[in-house]
Amino acid sequence: MDQRMSRRGFLKWLGLTGGALTGNWLLAACTPVPLPASQAASTDAATRTQAATSLAPAATLPSTASPFALHTDVLPGTVTPGESIPLPPARTGEAWPLMAALLERRSSRSFRSDELPLQAIADLLWAGFGVNRPASGGRTAPSAYDIQDIQIHLTTAGGVYLYLAQEHALLVLKADDLRGLTGSQGFVAGAPLNLVYVSDGARLAGFAAADREHWPWTHAGCIAQNVSLACAALGLAAVVRSTLDRTTLARALDLPETHQVLLAQTVGYPA
Ligand SMILES: Cc1cc2nc3c(=O)[nH]c(=O)nc-3n(C[C@H](O)[C@H](O)[C@H](O)COP(=O)(O)O)c2cc1C
Repeated sequence: MDQRMSRRGFLKWLGLTGGALTGNWLLAACTPVPLPASQAASTDAATRTQAATSLAPAATLPSTASPFALHTDVLPGTVTPGESIPLPPARTGEAWPLMAALLERRSSRSFRSDELPLQAIADLLWAGFGVNRPASGGRTAPSAYDIQDIQIHLTTAGGVYLYLAQEHALLVLKADDLRGLTGSQGFVAGAPLNLVYVSDGARLAGFAAADREHWPWTHAGCIAQNVSLACAALGLAAVVRSTLDRTTLARALDLPETHQVLLAQTVGYPA
């Protein structure tokens, strides 16, 4: 079967053939990885099944023995609201291959209480929603119309911080331990880091009500998955969580009316 026709059939099934821009984008996104010539020649179902089952194993896991052995700096023990803490650059050149991280991605609910090195926090924040195209301010996760409404708040034993992506720094919001307010599950309060994904509704002003309702959750999901994969690549445990008292947490974080707490994500060394 002709691959191009097959993809167009798929797009038609999605009802997207009329929207040239969206359709072209999807067409590119759906372009399959080319088959080796020996497999491309035969397209009957039996051959395709055989080709699928004879694929090589997806990935071999690199060693994660001590990804932070050289990085012992942690967040300051005492912080002052308003203070800005620069983060070390994310280690974009030495992480695992994506497929190996995907092989390891899972939800973990058992964490050691050990503090995370600043380097680990820098790595996972940048992976989650950092700036990967400084010229345009583009980020590692997508957002509709690039509205970038999601803020990442961090709660640790020492305080509450806001990730400033453009500066790649942490702004100290509070010197209080609010970890226990980010969820009711037993492991939450003792884990070293709980991220809270907050949507700044002011950035959604002017869009249709349905978009304002759905986009923030989609955006937070994209970021949380980036963080999950970074954690998998760095040998850290993580779980994204939706069981939290959003009203209480929003109040504790002093969020304005325009802001909405969406999800939390616990991160730490696996117990
Ligand atoms: C939107 C969402 C909300 C979730 N909420 C919680 C939660 O509140 N507590 C929790 O322990 N796990 C939570 N999880 C994790 C799921 O339970 C977990 O992803 C699922 O059991 C599959 O396991 P896996 O992630 O290891 O593949 C949530 C996952 C998602 C995507």
